[in-house]
Amino acid sequence: MNQASLHRLLMANAKKKDPKVLFDQRLATNLTLIQQLYFSLYPEETNLDNFQKLLSLLPVLFKERPEHLKLQDISRIEEGNWYQSEKIVGMQLYVEHFNKDLKGLREKIPYFKELGVNFLHLMPITTRPKGESDGGYAVNDYLKVDPKYGTKEDLLELTAEFRKQGIYLMLDFVVNHTSNEFSWAKKAISGDKKYQGYYYTFEDYTIPAEFEKTLPEVFPETSPGSFTYIPEMGRWVMTVFNSYQWDLNYTNPDVFLEMLTNLVKLSDQGVDVVRFDALAFLWKKMRTISQNLPEAHTLIALFRMCLQVVAPGVILLAEAIVAPMDIIKYFGVDQKEGNECEIAYNASLMALLWNSVATKKTTLLYKSLLHVPDKPKDCTWINYIRCHDDIGLGYENHLIQELGWSPDMHRKFLLDYYCQHLDWSPATGLMFMYNPKTGDGRITGSAASLLGLEKGLALNDKSLIEASISKIIMLHGITLAFGGIPLIYAGDEIGTLNDYSYQKDPAKKEDNRWVNRPMQDWETIAKLDDIQSPPSRIFHTLKRLIAIRKNEPVFADHNNLSLCHTGNDHIMVFERKLASGEGLLVLSNFDQNPQVIETSWIKKLGYFAQGDPVDLVTENKVSINSGLLEIAPYQLIWLKKS
Ligand code: GLC
Repeated sequence: MNQASLHRLLMANAKKKDPKVLFDQRLATNLTLIQQLYFSLYPEETNLDNFQKLLSLLPVLFKERPEHLKLQDISRIEEGNWYQSEKIVGMQLYVEHFNKDLKGLREKIPYFKELGVNFLHLMPITTRPKGESDGGYAVNDYLKVDPKYGTKEDLLELTAEFRKQGIYLMLDFVVNHTSNEFSWAKKAISGDKKYQGYYYTFEDYTIPAEFEKTLPEVFPETSPGSFTYIPEMGRWVMTVFNSYQWDLNYTNPDVFLEMLTNLVKLSDQGVDVVRFDALAFLWKKMRTISQNLPEAHTLIALFRMCLQVVAPGVILLAEAIVAPMDIIKYFGVDQKEGNECEIAYNASLMALLWNSVATKKTTLLYKSLLHVPDKPKDCTWINYIRCHDDIGLGYENHLIQELGWSPDMHRKFLLDYYCQHLDWSPATGLMFMYNPKTGDGRITGSAASLLGLEKGLALNDKSLIEASISKIIMLHGITLAFGGIPLIYAGDEIGTLNDYSYQKDPAKKEDNRWVNRPMQDWETIAKLDDIQSPPSRIFHTLKRLIAIRKNEPVFADHNNLSLCHTGNDHIMVFERKLASGEGLLVLSNFDQNPQVIETSWIKKLGYFAQGDPVDLVTENKVSINSGLLEIAPYQLIWLKKS
């Protein structure tokens, strides 16, 4: 049982739901864990005073939390794992690419309502350096709204409106680094030793050189190496991402306290889910790759346990785009199980879907998904087909090898397929951060362009257009049904193509991830009544699928997913099953040809017990008199067992 469940049990017995009494109760319940986590990072012998500071900070932070959010916290505890509900469907967007600013976003609430979206991830909206800022992931401040988006009041009004309308909000907490213009960085540059200790700074290159031996490069093309020399400071600073993003030094307990304060204050603005950005990088150690280290997990759990005491209604999303076996650990292992992050990106599924599209086979997908242990029962996924970042090819090498493929050649094929090196490929993607030293590369491009719509429209090739529409719907249909929060990238719901305008912007042209961050196309949206156009067909189908999902409890995440083997390598099938007997069988065909599967096992699962079952996608009954089921190219079937 995780700590959140304990709080729920305790609260059920409470006669009066007084927020302060419940705060004290939560603190008492989490305290042993908090001290163990804390002292394992900051040894007790030298950090008693610091621990005392943490204990004094928590009640202060609680006192400052707005009253209405304290009440919401209580109802969230009562509700239980609200984030596993089938009723939540998400969208991710850049405010300035959507409808100008925060006020503009608010005007578009009816659009979200129409589509059925009620969970929004807004990309960073805080102040950032002029020019390059990694899309705002270089933060000048954790709380100040950048004037181009509006004011703090605009944000508070927006979150109040979201609460009224039942829309959840996710914002980033860029927990690993600040920009070089952040107040701490500025003080460090001006020679302040205290703030130099907030980052990893070094007077010469000896230690950085040792680190470099094992640290992989994140942006090898634009920001090679992981250290930057700052002449004004006369020191090197660790910059694992871009040279203007300084890594925070969490071995310093003051940094933890300051960042915890920032985290709570961010939550106090009405945020429901905090996206822990780049959290795999939080702890650094020489002679390691400094990713996924045990201390990083301890630190995240410590943040989690403290935030839970102060603001238990706010949960954490792990942005850990790492190997499948490593992602799952961000839900917490052993004592930390269910006490680290409640949600994680299902980056493994995302990358495997793209592999299946290119290879037309689901073999690696099955192997990989079966290889990963089940997640803890109180946690869930964000399921997505792409986000604002690149698509990395983070498959396990030994699984690729087990299929008889060479991992290097296989990755090269995928890059060739998606990045316009193969004439026959329908995809129009770009290569991101190709590293000639390792042969590694990643892929950028909007979902529609990667799935062939851009090429189909350019060539006016009807069958290519049809295939791409089916693929867009099929992939989204899988993420809507997989269990967890489906997250649509804004624009994908109308099949928006690549946006090449970034090439003309000096602050963006070196980073081709901007190709898949297009402007929301309101002109096209105004014409969605033209039922025949590709955007309209995609939009209306997704809208329908979303409505179906929200109406069927079987879509909620109860850790009730099982993969089904069909004997056909082009097909993916999984079942979602409820204890009540309800079931959903999700079938999809990744091949360009119709594929057939044998069906006696589907009958055994009980899908035909009450006559022919309905495919929720087409609303048609499915009959299999011949004993075989034919699945059309890129078809998605949601077979419902009643
Ligand atoms: C995360 C963000 C990415 C950013 C990086 C550094 O991975 O998704 O866009 O570049 O963190 O902050």
